[in-house]
Amino acid sequence: MSELRWHPFLEQWVITATHRQDRTFLPPADYCPLCPTRPGGFPTEVPDPTYDIVVFENKFPSLQADPPQPAVAATPLSPVEPAKGVCEVVVYSPHHEDALASMPLERIQHLASVWKDRYQELGAKDFVRYVFIFENRGEAVGVTLHHPHGQIYAFPFIPPIVEKELAASRRFYAEKGKCLMCASLAEEIRDGRRIVLEGDRFLAWVPFHARWPYEVTLASREHQVSMAEWSAADMEDLAAVLKGLLQKYDALFAKPFPYMMVIHQAPTDGEDDQHAHLHFELYTPQRAPGRLKFLAGVESGAGNFINDKLAEESAAELRRVGPASVAAVRAADGADRKHAPSAQPPVRGQRPARSMSDVLEASFGPGGAAVTAFAPGRVNLIGEHTDYNEGFVLPMAIEDGIEMAARSRASREVRVHSFDLGETASFSLEESIRPDPVHPWSNYVRGVLWALGRAGVALGGMDLAFGGTLPQGAGLSSSAALQVATALVARALLRFSMDVPRLARICQESENELVGVKVGIMDPFVSLAARKGHALFLDCRTLAFEHVPLALGEHVVAICYSGVKHALVASEYNLRRRQCAAGVEVLRAHDPRIRALRDASLEALDACRAELDPVVYRRCRHVVTENARVLESKSALGRGDLRRFGELMDASHASLRDDYEVSCAEIDLLVDLARQNAGVLGARITGGGFGGCTVNLVSRGAVESFRQEVLGEYRRRTGIDGWVFISEAADGANLGGPIR
Ligand code: GLA
Repeated sequence: MSELRWHPFLEQWVITATHRQDRTFLPPADYCPLCPTRPGGFPTEVPDPTYDIVVFENKFPSLQADPPQPAVAATPLSPVEPAKGVCEVVVYSPHHEDALASMPLERIQHLASVWKDRYQELGAKDFVRYVFIFENRGEAVGVTLHHPHGQIYAFPFIPPIVEKELAASRRFYAEKGKCLMCASLAEEIRDGRRIVLEGDRFLAWVPFHARWPYEVTLASREHQVSMAEWSAADMEDLAAVLKGLLQKYDALFAKPFPYMMVIHQAPTDGEDDQHAHLHFELYTPQRAPGRLKFLAGVESGAGNFINDKLAEESAAELRRVGPASVAAVRAADGADRKHAPSAQPPVRGQRPARSMSDVLEASFGPGGAAVTAFAPGRVNLIGEHTDYNEGFVLPMAIEDGIEMAARSRASREVRVHSFDLGETASFSLEESIRPDPVHPWSNYVRGVLWALGRAGVALGGMDLAFGGTLPQGAGLSSSAALQVATALVARALLRFSMDVPRLARICQESENELVGVKVGIMDPFVSLAARKGHALFLDCRTLAFEHVPLALGEHVVAICYSGVKHALVASEYNLRRRQCAAGVEVLRAHDPRIRALRDASLEALDACRAELDPVVYRRCRHVVTENARVLESKSALGRGDLRRFGELMDASHASLRDDYEVSCAEIDLLVDLARQNAGVLGARITGGGFGGCTVNLVSRGAVESFRQEVLGEYRRRTGIDGWVFISEAADGANLGGPIR
């Protein structure tokens, strides 16, 4: 159960959540539920061999979007409310031993962008008034799982301490016409004695009024009401200041230092918030080696903190230990690269020795006739981040994919077995279909059935088993392939008719609404409609498509995996979509015919430049120029001009790297190394971005040198083993086809 009980004396809510008694308590490292699931190991909450940063709903939530009714009845003196809200867990790294103080800056910066994304997405929910992001670290503050992670509580009200702080800030603003935090920060800078670490944009200091022994406030020098205002440069600087500060903490008593880190910023209740100033507060219970500060009688009973340390002395001690400056933090960053990307990149799966029909029988027992489907993954040749802007794409299906076997069953239950993970999930069709946080892989199956049901298809129970050779999480659309395979077997078993564009939309809706990533239509469409030996040219507005012969002659398409896994869920992807929408709004005010970026020319965009946020302008410029590149690529391929096609691939990469900012250092390195090989005509990042794969046009004779030189140098510079594979353009999904 969980509920909100009103405390009439303190005039605040108390959350009662008794099921939290059962949460996992200090498990041994081998049984950490936040570690990646190891092949053959016990299933953790993250069923992947590795990951980057993961966000999922807390299994033991204090607040829930769909809360139970309170256990007791309210009285006028004692109001009770359902505990509505959202509780999420943010896992910072796949490495159990990691900590913010030792992670690469790039990962911390990425974490900041995940926080920002969650703040915006959760804050947009009508029942969420405050998004509270925090981390508890160390057993001294009650941490039950050591794996590096933080949490998010999306509250239906503004929590009391924050409310008090905001009220004081609002009064100050009304009286003095400026922000209280800006004033306090200016005073700290003037005084200087309590400053701990200075970045260009962020500052860390022990506040004059510190309540905890080594309490630190970290805030941006500029007035920022919330993380929604963070730019990439802000996050870069924040990462360095935060990492440096935490290294200082750990250096203080030469031990991992316990802390509570909370982020205060503007509420998301739609009220005026100009007086709010985003900042981090770090509360530190360790007052000396082996000595803890407890919130005892005076603190808990009277609400008065007694600090055993002088703020000025704490600051001086912190300045003396750990990195001397933010520059030192940056300089040392290279040293812990070994922690960075996944140690074990996903590999191409082994072809299952048994057919999926056998797997189906082995998993669920003998039964009626099975149907099978095969759906391929894809690599996008050019046209990135254009699909959701109603533009053009030019992907091809690859030879690897997902095979699925399925059969109907009498009961209204669906059971799904993943051969590769060795896991089974099931759900009833008697209830509404919801995402499953324990078996997130099953959400792609659930999502398709959910979207079909919503479209009016009469659903029926079924058993499904799937597996395949498509590496998951490498950016080759394993999720779309799984959804397409599900849609095809469902169409066969449930006997409804639906054409390719409609099926592709069903898969897109599944991922957009049930899985929660706002992907475009490209991936399911190409998985369904591709043709062997051809690329697929798709107009993502009209869904008209054309099979473009891929006459590459002496050249091949080489796909190169970076070993860095993209985290589309809760990543920058959804933010890019919002930035594009913001651009369209400005463009449309000038020309109402512009309904999507597809309709904008570079001239139209440049005419509005002054009105566009510079970041939004660059995002739009990428989409507008990329659409033009797809059209030109199609005609270059038509006349066999591979050289020009290669140049367009290169230009696409530069635009994705500089304007759309969806590349990363590892991918840029792979592209640069590829371009140094004389046999390469073009190289670019492919797919959603932030890791994953590059696609390269390589002459057949240079494939081996490409493999050796690019991968060898990549390994030397990053410590990561990537891999390269060559794929012909393959056929789209089919029913009844066995896995090749
Ligand atoms: C992901 C999405 C696609 C598309 C690409 C970027 O792969 O699933 O819809 O937006 O990113 O081109």
